[in-house]
Amino acid sequence: MSYLTHCTALIAGASAGLGREFARQLAPEARALVLVARRLDRLNELRDELTRAHPELSVYCYGLDLCDDEAVHEFFRWLGECDLRIDLLVNNAGLGDHGFFDESEWEKVKRILDVNILALTKFTHHLLPGMISMKRAAILNVSSIVGFVPVPNMTVYSATKAYVTSFTEGLRAELRGTGVRVTALCPGPMDTEFREVAEREAGEALPAPEIFKMPLARVAQAGLRALEKDSARVIPGLLLAVAMAAACTVPMFVLRFFLRPPLTRRRAGGSARSLDEIRTAAKR
Ligand SMILES: NC(=O)c1ccc[n+]([C@@H]2O[C@H](COP(=O)([O-])OP(=O)(O)OC[C@H]3O[C@@H](n4cnc5c(N)ncnc54)[C@H](OP(=O)(O)O)[C@@H]3O)[C@@H](O)[C@H]2O)c1
Repeated sequence: MSYLTHCTALIAGASAGLGREFARQLAPEARALVLVARRLDRLNELRDELTRAHPELSVYCYGLDLCDDEAVHEFFRWLGECDLRIDLLVNNAGLGDHGFFDESEWEKVKRILDVNILALTKFTHHLLPGMISMKRAAILNVSSIVGFVPVPNMTVYSATKAYVTSFTEGLRAELRGTGVRVTALCPGPMDTEFREVAEREAGEALPAPEIFKMPLARVAQAGLRALEKDSARVIPGLLLAVAMAAACTVPMFVLRFFLRPPLTRRRAGGSARSLDEIRTAAKR
């Protein structure tokens, strides 16, 4: 039987984009879905849509800020009280930032670390013992292609995704023989709210070559298929998979030569700031 059939799945970040697509694709197979995100109204709308189409499906919505440690623990308590035995965890919630690290807002940097790394690790840590005792469960961690190669102007985001991919691989090795599968989904650019959230100023668009863009439905499907096949990681889209495989063979000392920030520094009226200007600014 498929790992997805009659599963009870928890989807973090189900109010938009890829997370919402996961919910739609899992709905025909799942017994129950637990949808988590801050925008509860969006989750409730999604629940109504899914239960109209699949009346036998149970959908639980929980409004939660993954940056709020206490609220996360309250959520774990609620999950225990509902006696929901999660056998599929989709760690999908995530956000990025676009621009120079030294010009970033600390609050946003912290949110990226909290959601992309801490919450993903905490959810996994909390649910894993139960999953191991079930001897049949799965975790899908949503990483990104930017986790393979550092990306200037998305430095923190790209580092968090390197963590997600590495964490997934390590965990996978630890879980061999337990019946718990772990897969990293590493998509390229998709049309979601991600870009809006990452932009610091409207129009300062993130570089996203159209040729590599994949429809959400195909990305979610690739992730769920990879779980079924027990693949360690998947990069949706043949072209992107080949491009990334090639990029990963390039030694770091060669890559470093090509790592250039696509943005110019704002402060110097659009032209790059000199090292002296940056140092003076740092002393202020
Ligand atoms: N879009 C891309 O180009 C792309 C490429 C590669 C990988 N990814 C990854 O794919 C995943 C899904 O992103 P997406 O493209 O679907 O972006 P999205 O449309 O912006 O959706 C992000 C989801 O994360 C949730 N989220 C963000 N901060 C949260 C918080 N503090 N607490 C709870 N939930 C939070 C959002 O819900 P609320 O705002 O309602 O809380 C939303 O449901 C992310 O891990 C992202 O890094 C995206």
